[in-house]
Amino acid sequence: MCGIVGYLGNKKATEVLVEGLSKLEYRGYDSAGVAVNTGDELSIRKFKGRLAVLSDDLEKSPIQGTLGIGHTRWATHGEPSDVNSHPHFNKDKSIAVVHNGIIENYMELKEELQKEGYEFLSQTDTEVIAHLVDKYYEGNLFDAVYNATKKLRGAYAIGAICKDNNNELVAVRKDSPLIVGLGEGENFIASDIPAILKYTKNVYFLENGEFVHIQNDTVTVLDENRNVVKKEINEITWDVESASKGGYEHFMLKEIYEQPNGVKETLVRRLDENGDIKLDDIKMTKKDLEKINKVYIIACGTAYHAGLVGKYAIEKFAKIPVTCDIASEFRYNDPFVDENTLVILVSQSGETADTLASLRYAKDKGARIMSVTNVVGSSIARESDDVFYTWAGPEVSVASTKAYTTQLVSFYMIALDFAIKKGSITKEYYHEMIEKLKQMPEKVTKALEQENYIKEDIAKSIKDKDNAFYLGRGLDYSIAMEGALKIKEISYIHAEAFAAGELKHGTIALIEKGIPVIAIATQDSLFEKMVSSMEEVRARGAYVIAVAKEKNKEVEKSADKVIYIPDVDDILSSILTVLPLQLLSYYAAIERGCDVDKPRNLAKSVTVE
Ligand code: G6P
Repeated sequence: MCGIVGYLGNKKATEVLVEGLSKLEYRGYDSAGVAVNTGDELSIRKFKGRLAVLSDDLEKSPIQGTLGIGHTRWATHGEPSDVNSHPHFNKDKSIAVVHNGIIENYMELKEELQKEGYEFLSQTDTEVIAHLVDKYYEGNLFDAVYNATKKLRGAYAIGAICKDNNNELVAVRKDSPLIVGLGEGENFIASDIPAILKYTKNVYFLENGEFVHIQNDTVTVLDENRNVVKKEINEITWDVESASKGGYEHFMLKEIYEQPNGVKETLVRRLDENGDIKLDDIKMTKKDLEKINKVYIIACGTAYHAGLVGKYAIEKFAKIPVTCDIASEFRYNDPFVDENTLVILVSQSGETADTLASLRYAKDKGARIMSVTNVVGSSIARESDDVFYTWAGPEVSVASTKAYTTQLVSFYMIALDFAIKKGSITKEYYHEMIEKLKQMPEKVTKALEQENYIKEDIAKSIKDKDNAFYLGRGLDYSIAMEGALKIKEISYIHAEAFAAGELKHGTIALIEKGIPVIAIATQDSLFEKMVSSMEEVRARGAYVIAVAKEKNKEVEKSADKVIYIPDVDDILSSILTVLPLQLLSYYAAIERGCDVDKPRNLAKSVTVE
């Protein structure tokens, strides 16, 4: 977790660093700090709490200097505190480092360094890096960082500066993200693109093991053997506006409303002039597909819930057996992965540590690796054989919304593409489904028109509840899981999702007067069965909020409130069903006074196991 940023140029470094950190707070926000070379010394300011604490301090007592590094933290080793905040430094404060990742052998290194007389101030793993760089420093910062990293095991993106040289910034990455921003007479390092977008759109994506050496206005990238690497400049097409709130009160609401466009972009950019799906990034041929006898879909959190829908779509259309598993479990369960297996990793950020580790595990076993991700050049994208980019645009809110719906569209497209290649569906059915997918952006817009009703009538009715249940059957059960996760994440209402048919096997014991039950009944084939489950919980006093298709008005007899979604085929309903659940979570969180975009204890991108 954590976000790092670094700057060397002509501007006031603290301004660039604070601006960059403000775009990285989604990576963690329990403390923030900067170190700036003033010409005479390294001035370090770091505080527990949100970035505002740091920026207030810098406003009251500014630091002059044009070289600096900054950090926003999500604690792994050591509680959030001033002393555990980054940057960390060596004894005489002549070297400062920021770090994102985990140093697995830090205890061992710490003991060695302590024996050599190094004193530790913090409980962090990062402090060993500062002392190691000090140990190897003989007047050349790059050499010192290079030699220090040889000792490190684990994941890291590191930025380092020293007092002796006002024109040098060194950085390195291994298994944690890091990019280089290339400006006019100024250069940047950052954990993610939005941090530097205000200043430049040109970036280098660093590969694992690569070092960056910025001296004056020259940027050199070197590999782990110190060979100079010729990097390609990538031009970022997002603008700063799309990475900021654009008039909405929260990123989450903005991102909810970006879904019609996200769904459209993901779809229409991949349709050729005949209306066929054209997956340029997926090199998998008909022959490759014939070899595949099973698919694993692996992901975490919301991406895992999208994977559950992916399983449904691939099995239904392409008739290939699919197992969907959580990334933190998958590789410890001895899965049946071999060269006839396709493993699809789903990850908004493309950097989630467990998902990346699952990718590497499956690759070692010879599987074909495909990923569905939102971030171009992310680690998961780079290490995959085939990549399907979701084109949702940057997602900032910790609670994922538009990434999820675009992941769903991706899975429908992948499943249809596999199916037509395998011949498991007819050309007519294939085109009929594509036509129906093309209607989805409009239906998404329509489904979002329920906002006010959800805000005023539904969110207010559940705001004081401690518990809620989400019920569904078939595809709706997967959406129930996502709905429950969403409300837990941001409103802190305890919520669980259950397959409605399992109710009688235990869960019904928890139903008591007034408890909200969100009953998802959008599958025509299972509608009557869902209605029976609604009656069962209602008879025991539950307050039933149903989500149903517009045409199924009879649902009103069995529910206290109904949220309608536009009529749609059962298989595609997932894209619409989730929308009212996102809005309900958002407004329940607002009613409860929660910090929607920055829920407690969570981070957007979990880059540690
Ligand atoms: C974190 C986020 C979730 C997200 C999950 C997976 O837990 O809070 O919103 O679904 O990571 O992230 P990824 O970037 O791999 O989709």
